[in-house]
Amino acid sequence: MSNTAAADPRANRPEYVLGAGDDELQRLGLQHRLWSDESNRIWRDAGFGPGQTILDVGCGPGFASFDLSPLLEPEGRLIAIDESKRYIDFLNTEAERRAITNITASVGDAQAIDLPPESIDGAWERWVMCFTPNPGAVVKGVAKALKPGGVFATQEYFNYRALTLAPHTELFEPVKHAIRASWLDYGGDDDIAGKLPRLMREAGLEIIETRPIARIARPGEAMWRWPSSYFEVFLPKIVEEGYLKEAERAAFMDEWARRSEDPNCFFCTPPMVAILARKPK
Ligand SMILES: C[S@@+](CC[C@H](N)C(=O)[O-])C[C@H]1O[C@@H](n2cnc3c(N)ncnc32)[C@H](O)[C@@H]1O
Repeated sequence: MSNTAAADPRANRPEYVLGAGDDELQRLGLQHRLWSDESNRIWRDAGFGPGQTILDVGCGPGFASFDLSPLLEPEGRLIAIDESKRYIDFLNTEAERRAITNITASVGDAQAIDLPPESIDGAWERWVMCFTPNPGAVVKGVAKALKPGGVFATQEYFNYRALTLAPHTELFEPVKHAIRASWLDYGGDDDIAGKLPRLMREAGLEIIETRPIARIARPGEAMWRWPSSYFEVFLPKIVEEGYLKEAERAAFMDEWARRSEDPNCFFCTPPMVAILARKPK
């Protein structure tokens, strides 16, 4: 599957596949800004609002948490968990700096949520279950914590392989292959959204909406920075880990630089699906 993959890729990466360094933290901030229209939309569709207690599953450094928590005021609160201590420390420091008092953030495994049963009004998850080896445990933990009538809103990848640089270039192929190999070796699943309806139904939830999310980014547009920043941050890491040859990375990045100046191309972002599921009353 990979070129010369390391025997145990997790050994040198205690946190998730993209790490929790400064570069990834900055990238997550940009990523949230670029996709905040979609997060706002799903929060609205889920009915998240004042007075509710909402769980942000795998909150990262909290860029979305800072947008969601004001929607729950007054009296509502956001519970945020992430496995990265670095991200939770950042979130707590930043919340204090912004004088935000309705977020409770803690380090925890999304696959072992131990909130009291029927204690939350809703939960939101984006780009986390695609990295967890046991997404079923995430869904079960959320389902148990939801009050009857509570909604679990998720935005996850499906058919990630469909990400495309147009016109096609063979130089992208080893890069796509290496990204996927690294991700899967790390216990993730780039098709996770396709499995969520079953996992949700098995956990006693009923699906209320499934909606595709697809975008095209053109050079010069803000969304072009999304793949750019991803390649800049992630490709050197997978070269270091043996998934991609440095020559392949360099050739692709040269091509990407050329494409970034070419108004005749576009980039199809990896497809996602928004899925909303409700706990029956
Ligand atoms: C791509 S980031 C998404 C962050 C945030 N949900 C967002 O949409 O901006 C993935 C996050 O999942 C977290 N994560 C991965 N596996 C986890 C697990 N088992 N439990 C808790 N957090 C996890 C990572 O630490 C990282 O912050």
